[in-house]
This record gives sequence, structure tokens and C-alpha cells, in this order.
Amino acid sequence: MKKIGILFGQENSFPQAFVDRINQKAEKNISAEFVRIDKMMQGEPLGYSVIVDRISQDVPFYRASLKNAAITGTAVINNPFWWSADEKFFNNALAVKLGVPVPKTVLLPSKDHPSSTSDRSFRNLAFPLNWDAIFDYVGFPAYMKPFDGGGWRDVYKISDKDDLWEKFAETKQLVMLLQEEIIFDDYFRCYCIGGKHVRIMQYEPRNPHHLRYEHGKAPASKKMLDTITKYVLQLNQYLGYDFNTVEFAVRDGIPYAIDFCNPAPDAEVTSVGQDNFEWVVETAASYAIQRAKAQKDDRDNLTWGEFVKTGAAGKPLIAAAAKTAKADVSAGKVDHAIKEEAKPKKKPAAPKKAVKK
Ligand SMILES: Nc1ncnc2c1ncn2[C@@H]1O[C@H](COP(=O)(O)OP(=O)(O)O)[C@@H](O)[C@H]1O
Ligand SMILES: [Mg+2]
Repeated sequence: MKKIGILFGQENSFPQAFVDRINQKAEKNISAEFVRIDKMMQGEPLGYSVIVDRISQDVPFYRASLKNAAITGTAVINNPFWWSADEKFFNNALAVKLGVPVPKTVLLPSKDHPSSTSDRSFRNLAFPLNWDAIFDYVGFPAYMKPFDGGGWRDVYKISDKDDLWEKFAETKQLVMLLQEEIIFDDYFRCYCIGGKHVRIMQYEPRNPHHLRYEHGKAPASKKMLDTITKYVLQLNQYLGYDFNTVEFAVRDGIPYAIDFCNPAPDAEVTSVGQDNFEWVVETAASYAIQRAKAQKDDRDNLTWGEFVKTGAAGKPLIAAAAKTAKADVSAGKVDHAIKEEAKPKKKPAAPKKAVKK
């Protein structure tokens, strides 16, 4: 019997629904349950072919336990080694290299020195930093957020320099990104499962939490949905995530990737709504079963992204990006949560003047 386990924290609806869905499918020799750990011995298997990790970002003990499980052959969703290495600044740099639009972003050293360091630890760092160049590049208004953050923790909106100094002082030892604000007309949150299955959800992050999916916007055009799909696939295939969300803010018709390091994305029915919940439960359950079937003991059963694979093979890091994603747009099952805009019968007349920004 191959077991699929789910490791989770405070969420309520997704873990039980995921386990029930797999068990309802009654695949031969496959069952699902909540992961149970009562001891953690080096190099010893936990007994799961697949583990879906929904919580190790908050529990370092689990992160190390999942690496130990991986070396005994468990297919961990998402790869705990890559997740340990990844953060938002690298994500943005990768997007730049892939040609996926992102807000202008810089990395700031923490306001306070990390504990157990002193001035002497920072002799390579100019003091003060070249703030003028930083402000010229990013501009105001801006966002400031932790380089490895999540769940809207310590996310600041910054209006000008004075506001920045005030808020930066509050961030203490956090390493922050300072990022151009994308003042958006539209916003999308997209699940991506298996680097292939995409669910685009139109979203209004400025609404209160329980109303974010009630956006009241006109449906997006097919062209917009296709572009977003392509970017979602590129980013996830390159990063190597099995289960992730990507958020986009749309300004002047261009979708900018805002947040794409969410390897335990919110999937509560109370926030995403019944239809999106059904999609994520069904797609995650089917994908976990597929991974369980492919899993082989004492092998590496993790997903490694194109970035690592091409780098490890000594190939140019980004060269194959566009090709890879294109191939999968047609092969993959792309499922839009929103109805596409009806196609106009006639082409609209071209605007007389292009608006320059
Ligand atoms: N550059 C930006 N431009 C516009 N809105 C932003 C920007 N960065 C963050 N936001 C807003 O703040 C929210 C939280 O930021 P996000 O980067 O998603 O952090 P987290 O990982 O904590 O969710 C986003 O959903 C978005 O509404
Ligand atoms: Mg976010």
C-alpha cells in the first residue's frame, strides 16, 4: 500500500477534504491520511510515498523532517530543499531573466544588525547606502515587505522618504524588499499544481478578507488570461514548485508578478469560495495520486525546477525558458475560474495615439 500524507497547521477545510477525496477515488494500493510523527530518526523513512507539506514554513522541525523523508524516497510536495533556499528577491531576479514583468525591486540590509553581529560584520557594506539611486529606481509610492515573508506579515505601503524612514525603523532585524507600487486596475491570484494545472482567480486584495473573491470587475480578456497562464507556467516550472500561487497586479494592460513564493497557499473554503476549493481539492488529490504511482523507494522523488536542472547541467540558466512554458500551455490543463470576456465580433478601431507612460 502506498500512503499519501498531509502535514498541516491551523487550516481547517483543505487537509480533510484532500484526504477524503483521495480515499473516495479508491485507487488500488493508494490511501491517504494525516501525517503522524512520533519520532524522527536520521535516514529512517516515515512510511509515506508522498507528503503534501502545508506548514513547514512555520515549523523548522518539520522542514528538517521532510528533508529526511525525502532522502528515504518520499515525494515531498513542495521540494523542501528548494523551498529552504528560495525567497522573494531571487524570485524577482529570476522573473527579470525570464522576461516576466515584475515591479522594480531592491533588497535592503536589515535596519538593526542581526543578533551576534556588530559593525565589524558589515565592513563590506557602504554606509550610508546609495539611497538616492535606490529611490530614483523604485520611486514612490512603494511597498516594503520581508524578502521571505508571507500572509501579508510586515507588508508596508510607503508614501515618501519620511514615511520610509519611519516604517523602516519598525522592521528591526527583518531583511526587506523595497518595491515600486503597481497601481492596478485588476488583480489575479493563480493556483499552479504540478507545474501544469493553472486556475486563475480574479481577486480584489483591497476588499476585506472574506470578500476578496467578490471583485465586481469585468471578466478578463482571453489574451490577458493566456499571458497570465504563460507566466504562471514559466515561473513555476523554473522554480520547481508542485503547488504554489502566483499573484499579478495589472497596470496599463501589463500583468506584473507580485508574489509567487507561496508554496503553502491559502486553500480554505471560507476564503477561496466553493468552486475554487473544489478545483484545488480535486487537482491536488489527482496530482498526489499521480506522484504516488510514480514514486520509487530510496530514489529522489522530488521536483527540481528548470533553474536548478539547467544550472546543474552546465547549460545557460534561462535560455530554454520560453520554449518550456509554451510547450506546456498546450499540453497542460488550464482552467480559468473566471469566464472569458465575450469576443467582440468586429475588431475595435485602433486608438489614434498610443499613450506613453
Ligand atoms: N508592488 C506592489 N504593488 C501593489 N500592491 C502590492 C505590491 N506588493 C504588495 N502589494 C499588496 O500587498 C499584498 C501583500 O503583499 P505580498 O507581496 O503578496 O506579500 P505576502 O507574501 O505577505 O502575501 C498583495 O496582495 C498586494 O495587495
Ligand atoms: Mg501575497
